[in-house]
Amino acid sequence: MTQPNLYSFSQQLLIEKPPILLDTIRELVSNTLAPFQQDYCYWPWTKIGTAAIVCIGSYSLYKYLPGCYRRYYMSSTKKFSQRYNQALHLEKEALFNELKTVKTREDGRKLQVLEIGAAHGANMPYYPRHLVEVICVEPVREFVTYLRETLQQNPHVKCRELLVGNAENISVIRDNQVDAVVSTLTLSSCRDVDQVLSEIRRILKPGGIFIYMENIHSSNAFIALLQFICSPIYRFLFGISLVRNIPEHIERAHFNGGITQRIFIVHGISFLLSPHVSGIARK
Ligand SMILES: C[S@@+](CC[C@H](N)C(=O)[O-])C[C@H]1O[C@@H](n2cnc3c(N)ncnc32)[C@H](O)[C@@H]1O
Repeated sequence: MTQPNLYSFSQQLLIEKPPILLDTIRELVSNTLAPFQQDYCYWPWTKIGTAAIVCIGSYSLYKYLPGCYRRYYMSSTKKFSQRYNQALHLEKEALFNELKTVKTREDGRKLQVLEIGAAHGANMPYYPRHLVEVICVEPVREFVTYLRETLQQNPHVKCRELLVGNAENISVIRDNQVDAVVSTLTLSSCRDVDQVLSEIRRILKPGGIFIYMENIHSSNAFIALLQFICSPIYRFLFGISLVRNIPEHIERAHFNGGITQRIFIVHGISFLLSPHVSGIARK
């Protein structure tokens, strides 16, 4: 009688285990995805992924970048203005003291002053004590919080209003309404200098003054060239143009009462911004 062959298995015999919940879920998911994997496996997933990332990225930039940029712009403007005030302290003091020379018709009435591009109120400490009422014009609404802080620190200045908008159009102010207009580094920041100057002349009372302090295009050919090259970067980072010939614009604006101005170099700030003009134009 032949003996049956006995085979020994090196591998363990697989004994089917009862399915656990995780396996059931895994199976369900893979069964659900199976037809998609077959149908869409030839799609250019890398390109679709790249397009999706570009779309989501562009949308996020469009939605969140302006806010980030504004916050950056406000803080850089504030830091810059502090350094600027240190470098130009004496010049600013002398310039703002000119406000004391403006006569008001009614005794005891405060001077009505309009400041364009007031930002966070860098000029508030320079207004003569208890003599002026300021109306601020500023296109960046968010500066108002900083401006309030500055006004609390300078209670000698009364700020009557903050007008949010561009100085190219201040139609809310009637002709011949204010005693003085102030601009520091704003003619070099606004879009249309001639239009701003025409608005300033319109709202000034006869005998009123426009006081200004602005960076200008250098008369030195080498620095002028560097300013020309760097101006777009400055415009983007600080909103300031380096290549404006402000004295020429003021000359063209026909201030009938005459212009007194001084062109000078400021020490202690970037040499690209250092060529300056400050002055008074009278209506
Ligand atoms: C370089 S900052 C100078 C801020 C401040 N005047 C100073 O001296 O520190 C220029 C300011 O002008 C404002 N500005 C820009 N374009 C303007 C416009 N078209 N009308 C009025 N203000 C403008 C900016 O928002 C900014 O606050």
